[in-house]
Amino acid sequence: MQSFPPCAELHLHIEGTLEPDLVFELAARNRITLPYADAADLAARYAFTDLQSFLDLYYATMDVLRTEADFADMTRAYLRRAAAAGVRHAEIMMDPQAHLIRGIPLATCVNGVSSVLATSEAEFGVSTLLIAAFLRDRPAAEALDVLRDLLDMKAPIVGIGLDSAEVGYPPSLFAEVYDVARSAGLRCVAHAGEEGPPSYIREALDVLRAERIDHGIRCLEDEALVERLVADRVPLTVCPLSNVRLGAVDDLPAHPLPVMLARGLNVSVNSDDPAYFGGYLDDNLMAVGETFGWGAAELAIVAGNSLRSAFLDDARRSLLL
Ligand code: HPA
Ligand code: ZN
Repeated sequence: MQSFPPCAELHLHIEGTLEPDLVFELAARNRITLPYADAADLAARYAFTDLQSFLDLYYATMDVLRTEADFADMTRAYLRRAAAAGVRHAEIMMDPQAHLIRGIPLATCVNGVSSVLATSEAEFGVSTLLIAAFLRDRPAAEALDVLRDLLDMKAPIVGIGLDSAEVGYPPSLFAEVYDVARSAGLRCVAHAGEEGPPSYIREALDVLRAERIDHGIRCLEDEALVERLVADRVPLTVCPLSNVRLGAVDDLPAHPLPVMLARGLNVSVNSDDPAYFGGYLDDNLMAVGETFGWGAAELAIVAGNSLRSAFLDDARRSLLL
């Protein structure tokens, strides 16, 4: 197996690591009857036409997550696989609202995930940070309530993110949420420019003051924006296999990643929702390496970008760089 330089994974939804076999295992444990014959039948439904068609299945399958142990088992499975992929640091998003709205207490998901993250560096050699992502297709007032609850319970989060259905839900809707988070000392990232227009990337930077943009591939449609992103070294956490599976690009050869790299954008490679999109970080790196003829030099650039764009402490960063 090809080996890759030490990498940070900066764009990863923990609920998107729920593999079909684990979905069935958790369903059995929680006595839930799934509307699929077996794991292969579920996996066969991972044929998406756009972001929403994926989100519908993503929110449906996470119904098997009921207890702290369920969240912990999912997190452990990801970290084991990420370590094998060469990930040495992971900044992991979770979607608390997706659990709250189906009656799962905030403490259940936060404690289940964070209990495993706490020992990840010792157990898997992967340092971790947790990011609470808010669902942009739900009211900003709800996000604000959840943020305040996370702060009240002193949840071990490094920052906040913004995800779910993008088009029609511009970043500016969440200005107050980001202001409160920043005042509380949290770091700020946001999905923008996956399906949404370049103006959403500008809003994420100008209104939310996002420090990293998740996806950001549509920036290439706006030359002045590209120049700004290059000048400010704004990290763009690109997810090649995700973009292909969700139809954001026609196929991998048509992916803008090589152009983004050539333009001097601060791009990293990430897996997004690896259980759904055909691969973990190593699969993404392997696919782009083969498709674009990348050698050690290009892989070293994206790996270095990932580590320099992480919210890591300097001691761990210099150990990995
Ligand atoms: N985009 C937006 N929301 C998401 C994604 C994504 O790729 N994955 C999980 N939630
Ligand atoms: Zn994402």
